[in-house]
Amino acid sequence: MTIVAIDGPAGAGKSTVAREVARRLGFTYMNSGAMYRCVALAATERGAEPRDVATTLAIEPGEQVLLDGREVTALIREPAITEAASRVAADPSVRAALVDMQRQMLATGDWVAEGRDIATVVAPDADVKVFLTADPAERARRRAVELGADRSTVLAEQAIRDERDSTREHSPLKPAPGSVVLDTTGLRFDEVVDRVVGLVDRARGAVEH
Ligand code: DC
Repeated sequence: MTIVAIDGPAGAGKSTVAREVARRLGFTYMNSGAMYRCVALAATERGAEPRDVATTLAIEPGEQVLLDGREVTALIREPAITEAASRVAADPSVRAALVDMQRQMLATGDWVAEGRDIATVVAPDADVKVFLTADPAERARRRAVELGADRSTVLAEQAIRDERDSTREHSPLKPAPGSVVLDTTGLRFDEVVDRVVGLVDRARGAVEH
């Protein structure tokens, strides 16, 4: 079983890179951010506390995201849910419930898992740990294109979420020991994917020889 952990801030290209790396390797893709978004969505819809719903949900966090069997891939990317997810992710009870779910999934095969705390908390023994980053203006530009939104608004909101994600008391965003920091500013998508796949090949080669 091989686990590839890809962490980093919003807009660094984690999702597209992780998805393509998983496709190239034939691994299963896990979008852990989608799980925080699902908790935020379920809590909003039910008017319940995120910590109370977190343990009750069945979430499939792949390319298509299923919440209790319902397809919510687009819905969880709405701005209100994006904002709520960042707050939900600061709750230690929610984190504990989701980390538990993630560990159970990762025990079942070969995975490319992306998020903020995969290599620091969820799977510190991952075979390959990558911290993907890019400069803030570049990340905001990419997100603005993806969302069809105004770049300066995206940049301002991104700064608030970056600050919250990296200074929160529980599992703040930071590179794990032993991770490879990959700055994607100025790199083409296929170059980033090649580098990550290369790291996986090297790690597997090191095990075989
Ligand atoms: O990657 P994303 O934007 O879909 O993540 C949604 C929110 O969840 C974001 O505020 C960061 C947080 N998150 C987290 O705290 N830990 C993770 N492993 C993944 C996401």
